[in-house]
Order: sequence, then C-alpha cells, then structure tokens
Amino acid sequence: MLIKRRRGWELKESEATPEAVFHGRRRVVQALGAGAILSAGPGFAGPALAQWADPTASLYPAKRNEKYTVKEPLTPEETATTYNNFYEFGTSKSVVKAAQALKTRPWTVKIDGMVEKPIEVAFDELMKAMPVEERLYRHRCVEAWSMKVPWSGFPLKALVDYAKPLGSAKYVEMFTFNDPKMAPGQNSFYPWPYNEGLTMAEATNELTFISTGLYGKPIHKQNGAPLRLTVPWKYGFKSVKSIVRFNFTDKRPKGFWEQLQASEYGFWANVNPEVSHPRWSQAQETDIGTQEKIPTLLFNGYGEYVADLYKGLEKERLWA
Ligand code: MTE
Repeated sequence: MLIKRRRGWELKESEATPEAVFHGRRRVVQALGAGAILSAGPGFAGPALAQWADPTASLYPAKRNEKYTVKEPLTPEETATTYNNFYEFGTSKSVVKAAQALKTRPWTVKIDGMVEKPIEVAFDELMKAMPVEERLYRHRCVEAWSMKVPWSGFPLKALVDYAKPLGSAKYVEMFTFNDPKMAPGQNSFYPWPYNEGLTMAEATNELTFISTGLYGKPIHKQNGAPLRLTVPWKYGFKSVKSIVRFNFTDKRPKGFWEQLQASEYGFWANVNPEVSHPRWSQAQETDIGTQEKIPTLLFNGYGEYVADLYKGLEKERLWA
C-alpha cells in the first residue's frame, strides 16, 4: 500500500511544539504525592488528569544498573517527553496533552498463545513479581532522530520466565490497547491495535527491556504508560507502547508499520547507518536534546550484545 500522507514521524523538528505550560501543571500534580486523589481544578487541563495516584510510584527512582550506560549527556526530560510518536493520540510530535486521556488504571496484562497456561494479571500485581532497575539507553527512531534516556523497568526475559512459554514458541508479539473512544487516532484506517514482535532470542537478550519508568518516575503517558517495550538496537517503531497483551506464537508477527508499508518497514528493523530508508539516509541522526547531527552507529552501538543473534540470517532483510 502506498501511503502518500506524511506521517508524524516525518515531521521536521521545527514543527514540534514544546508543551512547557502543560508540564508546569504536571509537576504540580506530581508534587501532590502518592495516595492523594488528584482532582481537576481550574488550573488543570481537565478531567482527564483526575485519577488515583500511581500505586507503583514508590518503585522509582529505581537503582541504576551501571552496566547499561551511555557516555553522552542525557536528553533533557522536557525534550524526551514532549517530542513523541504515539499515533493513537495524533500524528504530530505534540501528543502530550492528547495522551493524558490514556487511562492507565485498572490495567490488565494478558499473556497467552503458546504458554503453559494463559495469564491475566493486573499491572500493579505484575510489578510485584518483576525486578525493577534503571538503565541508560540510546533510542533511535527510523526517522533519523535520537535521544538518550534513563528508562526504569525490567528485562523482558523476566516476563518471559513468568509467562512459561512452550518450547515450540518462536516469537513474542506485543499489542497496544484498542480503544478508539479513548484514543481518537484509532479511528483512522491504520491497522489497530499497534503491534510488534521479536524472536524468542531477541526477547530474552539481556538488553531487551520493558520500560515502566522514565527519569526516575512512573513512565509518562505520552511515552507509553504503564509499560512499553524498549529494544535499543532496533529502530524505535519496534518499541510498542502501552502494552496489554503478550502473545507467544510460532508465526512471525507482522507489525503495524510492516502491515502498512512493507516496502519500508520490516520485521527485523535493526539500526544500520549504511542501509538507507527508501526515502532518506540513515547515516546520521539528529540528537533532539542538543540538535546536533551525529553519526548513526551499527546496531545503535549495541553490536557487542546483539550481533551474534543475526549470524546465519544474512539473507534476511535485517536492517529496515
Ligand atoms: N507504540 C504505539 N502504540 N504507537 C505508536 O505510534 N510509535 C513508535 C514507538 N511505539 C508508536 C509506538 C515509534 S515510531 C517510536 S520512534 C517510538 O514509539 C517513540 O517513543 P517515544 O515517544 O517514547 O520517544
């Protein structure tokens, strides 16, 4: 299918509008602290902000795992949380306000498919069983922008162990919620709900992370609350946000963007500066914090952890 409409992730940086005013309000909400009922007063954006405080808030800031770090300075929180791709809430980069409609409690996670026994678990219960830590990762979008952020969460391997997949499972597919009333973007013709998949080897690689926190706090709605995938050696579109389902399968999943435009977006989507996107080069990226153009690294700089995963797969389209 040829998509003529320009996508949000193809917007120029100059078209993104910082939501500084909104963030000022958000800090006030956070300052009210855990346990309080947050009500929408006259100074707030509306009833969408009124909800119970997050019962997992005390998990943050989580202890940093120094093994996973970056040399470069981190992207400012204000930038990383106001320049987003979350098509469920709009195709621009400025979805902060719209994404506050995301209702994150109650939040149920379903684990099914090729598992010993299907599980449905409340997110807050799941968090009691997961080892939470903080990691600094580079995050590189296929659109040639990048950032460096402190994610908190747990290795996807911990959830795979919890899920007890059958030996015959070859992939894990992850799905975002499907609720067009809450997320107006889901009224479009796109193949909702957003989904993506990994091989079991990728899913259990030590780098593969489920992010539940960002900048030492529960993860922001616009960044994929309450839990999103983070696979730092792949283009960002693999990192599905606001996950409600993990499905173990022996069939290679076709992700949201592959369903829309297979000539441009494939299953593997590993970062490679030498393989251009059909419509632009991937040799460089713009750091959205500093606005500098920097060289893109093979596997986004994570080759020592993941290059072996692709030995023998050279005939596959590994890079886009
Ligand atoms: N997940 C969902 N459900 N919807 C989306 O639109 N966009 C993807 C990915 N996960 C997307 C998604 C893309 S293209 C990128 S680059 C990253 O989320 C952006 O994550 P960020 O906004 O936290 O930087």
